[in-house]
Amino acid sequence: MRIILLGAPGAGKGTQAEILSQHYCIPAVSTGNLIREAVRAQTPLGLRVQAVIERGELVSDETVIQILTERLTKPDCEGGFILDGFPRTVPQAQALELISDVDCVLSIEVSDERIIKRMGGRRSCPKCGATYHVDYKPSAGGENCQHCGEFLVVRNDDKPEVVLHRLETYHAQTEPLKVFYEKTGKLLCVEGQEEVKDTTALVLEALASL
Ligand code: AP5
Repeated sequence: MRIILLGAPGAGKGTQAEILSQHYCIPAVSTGNLIREAVRAQTPLGLRVQAVIERGELVSDETVIQILTERLTKPDCEGGFILDGFPRTVPQAQALELISDVDCVLSIEVSDERIIKRMGGRRSCPKCGATYHVDYKPSAGGENCQHCGEFLVVRNDDKPEVVLHRLETYHAQTEPLKVFYEKTGKLLCVEGQEEVKDTTALVLEALASL
């Protein structure tokens, strides 16, 4: 199964990608996590893009396509993958067509108002990239990551003014991908629900219809 997850920042792509990864035993590939890892490790790439992601803008197509191409050639992607956060522009979608086929593009729809409310409660693990929510998906480790024990943080780009800018960027540059993929007949849309498990049920139902 090769799945693309589309959706605004905070729509729940990462959350559902993690669940689908376990369900289908295929890796979830998040370009956001790959970029944040590079920033944490202060690699040349990380140093170049740190300010861009903290402003809530997109990293250049060229850079992200290179990161994604390297990741998809790893052996664990041979049996399929879930793309979370890629593609985000039409040129990225066109580049992906040259790298791999996809079976379906699933868009998780959530209104801007609900996203703004949600983002204030997100907590992220700076070490392994796991994502939580103080109300909807608390960590079993309390203020620490239930997977690796690291202290959870609020991402720099989850500050309210940056979230607004990320939403503008999404509507201007990423939302047009829905038209792009509608033409391929591979687009499925699900309404993001208030509870994670309810969104998962709709996502699995949509994928079962393939
Ligand atoms: P990225 O990490 O991809 O950020 P994003 O798309 O903005 O997505 P988020 O991770 O913020 O949200 P999500 O949809 O995964 O939601 P989540 O599941 O966490 O990218 C970060 C940056 O990297 C970009 O801004 C850009 O600069 C750069 N970048 C990355 N990819 C790029 C690309 N292809 N091209 C160019 N630049 C790129 O859920 C959010 C919160 O809500 C969590 O707390 C979660 O627990 C909670 N939640 C989830 N579902 C529910 C639910 N149903 N009910 C209640 N709460 C829920």
